[in-house]
Amino acid sequence: MIYKKVAKIQEEISAIGIGCWNFGGDWDHPDEQTSIQIIHAAIDAGINLFDVAPVYGWGRSETILGKALKDGQRQKVLIASKCGLLWNDRHETANNLTKASLLQEIDRSLSRLQTDYIDIYQLHWPDHATPIEETVEALETIKKAGKIRYIGLSNFSPRDTEIFMSMTEIHCQQSLYNMLERNTDSYHGIPLEYQTEKEILPMVKKYGQAFLPYSPLFQGLLTGRFTHGRNFSEKDIRNENPKLSGLAFDTYYGATLRLSDICKEIDRPMSELALNWLRQKPEVTSIIGGASSLSQLEKNLHSLSWDIPVPVMAEIDDILKPFENL
Ligand SMILES: NC(=O)c1ccc[n+]([C@@H]2O[C@H](COP(=O)([O-])OP(=O)(O)OC[C@H]3O[C@@H](n4cnc5c(N)ncnc54)[C@H](OP(=O)(O)O)[C@@H]3O)[C@@H](O)[C@H]2O)c1
Repeated sequence: MIYKKVAKIQEEISAIGIGCWNFGGDWDHPDEQTSIQIIHAAIDAGINLFDVAPVYGWGRSETILGKALKDGQRQKVLIASKCGLLWNDRHETANNLTKASLLQEIDRSLSRLQTDYIDIYQLHWPDHATPIEETVEALETIKKAGKIRYIGLSNFSPRDTEIFMSMTEIHCQQSLYNMLERNTDSYHGIPLEYQTEKEILPMVKKYGQAFLPYSPLFQGLLTGRFTHGRNFSEKDIRNENPKLSGLAFDTYYGATLRLSDICKEIDRPMSELALNWLRQKPEVTSIIGGASSLSQLEKNLHSLSWDIPVPVMAEIDDILKPFENL
């Protein structure tokens, strides 16, 4: 395993982490047993960061991670969970960063995760209806109670991040970042208030924060497996990503065809190319990719055994140029 270290976090963090969203059942697979096997195999390979959220699978991803980590595995890893996205019986979500809600949410997460503390507690999305002061007060209360160790922000504008940082210590940031979504302005149709490469990366570098790029494989598109005919099952959350259908898809898909030529040239799978492109950026701490089988995990770990050669990086830059601001 390759580990990375940032000033704001005491532990070294594995360059590859695991994103646990798909374990909760919002995607086509995997089942619970396979998810637990993936988590155990990841720990055996030296992965020590697991990113999760209450809303993933409506509590199920946290529950599965909790089951997998009991019996002696908990102290080997950092759990990065989140708060601020609530859901109702119809699975409609709402942003809520009020103090009262956060004080309840943390205890529900701890119970599902079967642990006394969460290592990195991230505000999942902004809630502009709640004053930042109130949210910070809640986080400080939770931290003083020993229930969280580090605080992270996900999907926040640079301006709001600076305001948070003037009131409390922010140790980590998480935002959408992959080869084809570098400064993009939307995620699943939700407008983003930041540009990752232009705004978030310089900030994490300046302040010594950890940075976790989400959707590193563009939900699977950057593995070269998707084709025009690809349809997800009815329940798969990826149906709700407008970039994976219609005209938008054609644009991104065209780039993957050009990337696949490079992959043939260097005889490496596109998934590894996409992961290494991220890993070779100094600001990227841990790539929280999802894996839905042991063989995917194995392939993703294999990316650690090589680096993208400089001349190939130049060819990639050329392909990615039109996507710098898309
Ligand atoms: N903070 C936020 O707002 C936010 C938003 C989104 C995600 N996230 C975090 O980021 C994590 C990862 O992002 P993501 O879930 O969007 O997905 P992703 O990591 O971009 O893609 C994961 C998918 O790629 C495919 N895949 C993975 N390895 C592969 C391999 N070696 N070969 C072929 N296919 C492979 C699998 O698809 P199949 O299942 O089809 O096999 C897998 O489910 C999430 O789990 C979550 O923790 C955070």
